[in-house]
Amino acid sequence: MARGLPAVIGKRILLVVGGGIAAYKACELVRLIRGAGGEVTCVLTEGGSQFVTAMSLAALSGNPVHTTLWDLKDEAEIGHIQLSRSADLVVVCPATADLMARMAAGVADDLATTLLLATDKRVLAVPAMNVKMWEHAATRRNVATLRADGVEVLDPDIGDMACGETGPGRLPEPPAVLAAIQRLLGVGHGPLAGRHVLVTAGPTHEPIDPVRYIANRSSGRQGFAIAEAAARAGARVTLVAGPVALDTPAGVTRVNVETARDMAAAVEAALPADVAVMVAAVADWRSADAAPLKLKKDGSGQVPALELAENPDILATLCASPRRPALVVGFAAETHDVLAHAVAKRARKGADWIVANDVSGDVMGGSHNAIHIVTAAGTEALPEAPKDRVAELLVERIVDALA
Ligand code: C5P
Repeated sequence: MARGLPAVIGKRILLVVGGGIAAYKACELVRLIRGAGGEVTCVLTEGGSQFVTAMSLAALSGNPVHTTLWDLKDEAEIGHIQLSRSADLVVVCPATADLMARMAAGVADDLATTLLLATDKRVLAVPAMNVKMWEHAATRRNVATLRADGVEVLDPDIGDMACGETGPGRLPEPPAVLAAIQRLLGVGHGPLAGRHVLVTAGPTHEPIDPVRYIANRSSGRQGFAIAEAAARAGARVTLVAGPVALDTPAGVTRVNVETARDMAAAVEAALPADVAVMVAAVADWRSADAAPLKLKKDGSGQVPALELAENPDILATLCASPRRPALVVGFAAETHDVLAHAVAKRARKGADWIVANDVSGDVMGGSHNAIHIVTAAGTEALPEAPKDRVAELLVERIVDALA
């Protein structure tokens, strides 16, 4: 087995190879899965066959490669329904914009899409496409639909692309894809292997009109660092992120949201989870009725009144939910009386722990943090450290608590 890579011993992967230049990396992925003890059967789309050959995939996988619905021998011997069910996990790599559009629409007009519609197994889609195609509203919609349908869609890497442009759209490197496969199969190493950790991070933006919003100084860094540390500990991690300019940590499934109400819905959709760490600085209030058109200064000196409405308390709602994770951790960012507020907040919200931090300095947006962990047993102070280190220490406490 390749050193340092997770084991998928005895697991069967059905790998759908779509039509994009990144298809050559699917060959490397086949090698990695087999090297980690897994078995791979490949399905090559017509587009995929323009970039890699069935012969390459057959040689690398050691299994026949399936390319068409209309193969009498294949249908007599296996049948496409059976093929779709025989795997432990279905992986689409690369998942092109077209393939994801057809998956989202439930189209079944070739072997790959028919298998994807017929399967009763989890599906992992690994996108690769031009940056404009990835950012196109149609692709955003399709990815959101697939995620809502339970498909695990990885975020593409950011960088230079074969077409000469730069941005998000590169296929994640095969070891990162293997790590995602391992997480979905629940066979990874690490003290949080097989656990689902839900993290919220960043601010929320509450629109006042189409161009203005209410926000706060949260950078999302502490929450992203916690998501990353949990993934490194082997957890399957869902990161519900408000608007921040941070890269998605390796192996983390990110759901982007804008408002508190979007965040509440995304948290609900991500359940069940074993642990929830609610780091987001959720706006307490939103504009009571956001204007559909930009508010204009009319020169009369009259200022518009901004009426506020209270946002849902995502943490308190989660704590009261029948699907409450076993361990719920809230954050308390305060500028004064930090510990007293944290102790009160723990009781008020029904959280197991409250992580208190003093944000009177430059913690919000800064790189360091000093926290207190308030639990039923008392309060533990951690020394000031970089946010990555704080995240590691918190994840260590979480591992201990679950054990
Ligand atoms: O109520 P307060 O903002 O002080 O509590 C902070 C904690 O509650 C954080 O964990 C934050 O993510 C969460 N919170 C929430 N929904 C809100 C406000 C805060 O989940 N509307």
